[in-house]
Amino acid sequence: MTLDNSSSQKLDKQQTQTSEQQRLQKLSDRMKPLAETTAGTPMGELLRKFWHPIALSRSIDPGKARAVRLLGEDLALYRGEGGKAHLLANRCAHRLTKLHTGWVEGDELRCMYHGWKYNAHGQCVDRPAERAGSHGSIRVNSYPVHEYCGVVFAYLGEGEAPEFDLYRKPKFEEDGVLLFQRQEIWPCNWLQHAENSLDAVHVSFAHQMGKVGVFGDAITDQVPTLSYEETSAGIKQTAVRVIDGKTQVRVSDWTFPYGNHVSIPAVHEGGAWIETANWMVPIDDTHTLRVSLRAVPSTTPDADAKISEYFDGCEDYCSTDHHDDLFAGNYPEDPLVRLTSAQDYVVLVGQGEIADRVHECLGVSDQGIAFLRRILFRELEAIRNGKPTKEWRRIENGSTLFQYKEETAAN
Ligand code: FES
Ligand SMILES: [Fe+2]
Repeated sequence: MTLDNSSSQKLDKQQTQTSEQQRLQKLSDRMKPLAETTAGTPMGELLRKFWHPIALSRSIDPGKARAVRLLGEDLALYRGEGGKAHLLANRCAHRLTKLHTGWVEGDELRCMYHGWKYNAHGQCVDRPAERAGSHGSIRVNSYPVHEYCGVVFAYLGEGEAPEFDLYRKPKFEEDGVLLFQRQEIWPCNWLQHAENSLDAVHVSFAHQMGKVGVFGDAITDQVPTLSYEETSAGIKQTAVRVIDGKTQVRVSDWTFPYGNHVSIPAVHEGGAWIETANWMVPIDDTHTLRVSLRAVPSTTPDADAKISEYFDGCEDYCSTDHHDDLFAGNYPEDPLVRLTSAQDYVVLVGQGEIADRVHECLGVSDQGIAFLRRILFRELEAIRNGKPTKEWRRIENGSTLFQYKEETAAN
């Protein structure tokens, strides 16, 4: 049988469409697992190998309980009357109501519904309406908790938790620094946040939008020269700009799996740059808890009071509460924290709940994103093959995160 010209063209077109569909399907199969966080998925398993920030220490008073969510799991965080934090699965073993709505008694948590009580290991120790001592092996899951610099971290993985080490940075532990913590919850996948933190180019655009704050001002709209290298802790990102004849070098000691450890400009004129950790914690596949820890050197009582007042004022701001306004281009009147957060919110939430990576179009300037994905693919491959993943270790004496180098001759 022979095909006439138009039939042959039709067949070619169909074949092209089919191979394009196959290509997209293959790409989708590769990208989709990157954004999954729940138990039983490779990325869920990888993420469960790490400690995660789940709340600010000040958000939970002694003798109180509250609900938190991490990696798609509902948890009851409570602080014993003596001040120690504990974490249980947030579902009573009896008839499955939320445990955080109950009472804290000593270091134990009693369910509001019928009074079953659990100790910090999740073991049921009392069932008031049942035969005394009949609680036997009834239990709920419990998880290790560690507090560091005013942030509560939890470990949801298998076996013993790793030593709490990776997120520690010398600056946070120095004498004479003021520590400021804050958090926001945004309605999009954690990986968008992580990729954004390895995308130093966005600073030259997103942080110039609406209003140029001290961050956009210090970084300017100049496109940086970028370089990336894998470290024991994660990725070293270096962005170099020549500003007013001086070479500005900004480094991120980016810490796996999502800690952007970086330096940001001072809020007030003449102040030192602020060493900051931004953690983009997966609450579930479509929500992210952004926790920031900032270390500001203490100087004079007046300057300390001024900076404390500024950060206290930022405490209740959450970009999500201003969604419509922000997408309409109305940015907060603020020099740094609220403004920077709002600008990032618009671009990241603007990508959708889970960015459709199949239809993106990466360029050379996205090398940080490609670099991160290569590492993630490598680690996921190890998980799928039952091989060990990399044991990440913090860098004891990291690079200077921000500096101006010598005057450049060309200017
Ligand atoms: S549901 Fe908790 S005691 Fe009944
Ligand atoms: Fe940003």
